[in-house]
Amino acid sequence: MPSAAKNKTELLGGTSHIPPDEIVFGCSPAMSAVHKRLERICNTNVPVLMCGDAGTGKETVARWMHCRSPYKTGQFVKVNCAAIPGSLLESELFGYEKGAFTGAHVSKPGRVELADHGTLFLDEIADLDMALQSKLLHFVQDGTFSRIGGESEKFVETRIICSTNRDLEQEIEAGRFRADLYYRISVFQIKLPRLSERREDVCALAQYFQGVYQRQFGKECDPIEAETLHFLKNLPWPGNVRELSNCIARYVLIGQDAFAIKPFPKQTPISTSGGSAVTRGVPLRSIAKEAIRELERNVILEALRTNQWNRRKTAQALKISYRALIYKIRDAGLISRRGAAV
Ligand SMILES: Nc1ncnc2c1ncn2[C@@H]1O[C@H](COP(=O)(O)OP(=O)(O)OP(=O)(O)O)[C@@H](O)[C@H]1O
Ligand SMILES: [Mg+2]
Repeated sequence: MPSAAKNKTELLGGTSHIPPDEIVFGCSPAMSAVHKRLERICNTNVPVLMCGDAGTGKETVARWMHCRSPYKTGQFVKVNCAAIPGSLLESELFGYEKGAFTGAHVSKPGRVELADHGTLFLDEIADLDMALQSKLLHFVQDGTFSRIGGESEKFVETRIICSTNRDLEQEIEAGRFRADLYYRISVFQIKLPRLSERREDVCALAQYFQGVYQRQFGKECDPIEAETLHFLKNLPWPGNVRELSNCIARYVLIGQDAFAIKPFPKQTPISTSGGSAVTRGVPLRSIAKEAIRELERNVILEALRTNQWNRRKTAQALKISYRALIYKIRDAGLISRRGAAV
């Protein structure tokens, strides 16, 4: 029997490491609200559904909850429903008895059994196939299940936390996810904000990651400059906390060049909404304006990087006034409109 797919490897030495609360939740209103909600339920065993984009910290928060749950002395058992092929997932989850299929020479307990009096973390639950959804529903309802090829019914007591970066209600509408299972696993739903929705936390996270990677790589480096931190705070971070963490790992390894600018994924209303500009009837003038704005933004970022984020030098290099540069930085969305100048 092939072993279960390995957990995704993270630069941070696996997500089994849980940062302190002030790092996990930071000080942003978005994450403080999440913290408040979690505090109310972490001591119970209600199923929780963690939603949020890739890299927003769904697993980190699930591990945090486990450590504060009544089952903290049990195991935190992660099953990545997307990484294990459907045919293997059932035996991985529920185990099998000797002789259940060719190659089943010995009986093997499934992950649900390992999670007895612990937490079962079903990662990327939307990838579970319909047949297995039925078996899981049964288990979620009363904690009972049978191993493949087994006749007796078993019972385990576990906290179930599921995670998804898809909209499960849409999956239900598309006929890919059982509504009854959805209602069972989402007694309590937590939506984690994107990093761009919690910019207040970027600096503390960056400094925290710097410390972690310095220890991990056995390498000291200069503190990240205030100007660079401010710059990082205003980047779009489509890969969320994971992307920031990887960026800081590069900084510890190679220094300031780690902040080299890649062209941004298009994020403007013109480029992100569905259909082509023609089918959506966008005026040519708006398209040209947007294209210039995007080009300018990339050039400004490149110039800031080349000039070690010094705005005066950047303005000189671009042969524009300092004021014009600040205006353009704001216009390009590189700074929150409430915030101070970059
Ligand atoms: N709030 C946080 N505090 C500290 N580190 C975090 C936080 N959120 C995420 N990370 C770090 O970012 C990386 C990704 O986090 P995690 O695996 O928890 O995200 P995820 O939402 O489960 O991602 P995916 O959807 O891709 O599985 C990990 O290295 C984790 O340590
Ligand atoms: Mg995850």
